[in-house]
Amino acid sequence: MTMGNDTLTIIDNRTNITYTIPIKDGAIRAMDLRQIKTSPDDFGLMSYDPAFMNTASCRSAITFIDGDRGILRYRGYPIEQLAENCRFLEVAYLILNGELPTAQQLAQFEAEIKAELGVPENIKRIIEGFRYDAHPMAVLCSTLAALSTFYPDAKKVRDPQNRRKQIIRLIAKVPTLAAYHYRYSRGLPYVDPDPTLSYTGNFMKMLWKGLEPTYEVNPVIERALDILFILHADHEQNCSANAMRSVGSSEADPYVSAAAATAALFGPLHGGANEQVLKMLDEIGSVENIPAFIEDVKNRKRLLMGFGHRIYKNYDPRARIIKQTADRVFQVTGRNPKLDIALELERIALSDEYFISRKLYPNVDFYSGIIYQALGFQPEIFTVLFAIPRMTGWCAQWDELMGDPEQKIARPRQIYIGHGHRDFVPMDKRG
Ligand code: SDX
Repeated sequence: MTMGNDTLTIIDNRTNITYTIPIKDGAIRAMDLRQIKTSPDDFGLMSYDPAFMNTASCRSAITFIDGDRGILRYRGYPIEQLAENCRFLEVAYLILNGELPTAQQLAQFEAEIKAELGVPENIKRIIEGFRYDAHPMAVLCSTLAALSTFYPDAKKVRDPQNRRKQIIRLIAKVPTLAAYHYRYSRGLPYVDPDPTLSYTGNFMKMLWKGLEPTYEVNPVIERALDILFILHADHEQNCSANAMRSVGSSEADPYVSAAAATAALFGPLHGGANEQVLKMLDEIGSVENIPAFIEDVKNRKRLLMGFGHRIYKNYDPRARIIKQTADRVFQVTGRNPKLDIALELERIALSDEYFISRKLYPNVDFYSGIIYQALGFQPEIFTVLFAIPRMTGWCAQWDELMGDPEQKIARPRQIYIGHGHRDFVPMDKRG
């Protein structure tokens, strides 16, 4: 209940001076704290917020999350409705442009994407410079940065039309980069993009086409990948989106900014968790071993990978949809026995006070890997399957940043805790 006076009154007990600071959209401007000084030459008050636990870095209209209620919406539309009714490129259009496309707008968008599916031949040479067992996320990071060298006009980051052209290229080419490395790592010939197929159907063909004259896209798998891609498309100011915005704020081009976002996603606490979940399930091995593993987690020897979230303190709505999608995939691929371990792990964790008290629930990464493995993917590529759809979210966040008049180069402050002034010590006086 508010009194209608959207201000904060602060009394600085060091000086007994009172300040009134405006509250807007549930926040105060950190810069409004700088007026709070103990003397005219005092720098003024800062806010200290390691890991930005309680700091809004931007105003965004793309994705809304209510972590307590387990709500996720892209441009206001609930993720459940989008996953049920849309194809991935339809949602990519929504995330980028703010509205669901008309049939004509979607056809135009798809045509622009299809025209940009190819990558320069040199990229194949770059991929071949890696060992066969190089981690796919490190290769993706490298090849995204390499694309920057082929599109020098991408440096015109203040030109909205140029940004849109580069965004189309990034969304179109990221599956090709991933599929080319997938084939190279298995000693298979490259399969070039096929614009006659859907976004996910083309990705499947580039990955899995054998010597058959015509690749038949399995519609159940194509639809499952569409849903998985929709669920992973954006998630507001997560670690990798922050990387995209931070690097992009220096006016670096979107290819190297996306390489930085990919690097952030690679981390096991972020997108790398889906790969770690499968390794964790493999290590647990059977339902009988779950209680001992849970004890290790509670004794802080391990993390329960795929559980917990900075924002969701309820069930991640994406995990629920992924669990439902698993059944559709298993009708084609056969049931992945790891699902039984995952379901029992979830059941035990959600009834254990350690997890309940910390509001730890399955997140998007807990079940996705089980589907990916059933589709024949090795765990090392799981995070690449996260990066492909998240490219849309990174691009939308970057585009919004570049169009935001309040934004400038990101440069946080610090609280200095090092030595005060001291003079140089010659070598013979040290130690
Ligand atoms: C993604 O931000 C996004 O939106 C990301 C993402 C997206 O779409 O972009 O949703 C994708 O990255 C999902 C998260 C994937 N990561 C994992 O599954 C890795 C395992 N999860 C944890 O590392 C952790 O839950 C984080 C990193 C996801 C969130 O960590 P926080 O918010 O910093 O929470 P915390 O580490 O402060 O944990 C609070 C408490 C601690 O216990 P106490 O010290 O209070 O006793 O919960 C415990 C933690 O030890 N805890 C866990 C745990 N996660 C938190 N204990 C065991 N297993 C876990 N997974």
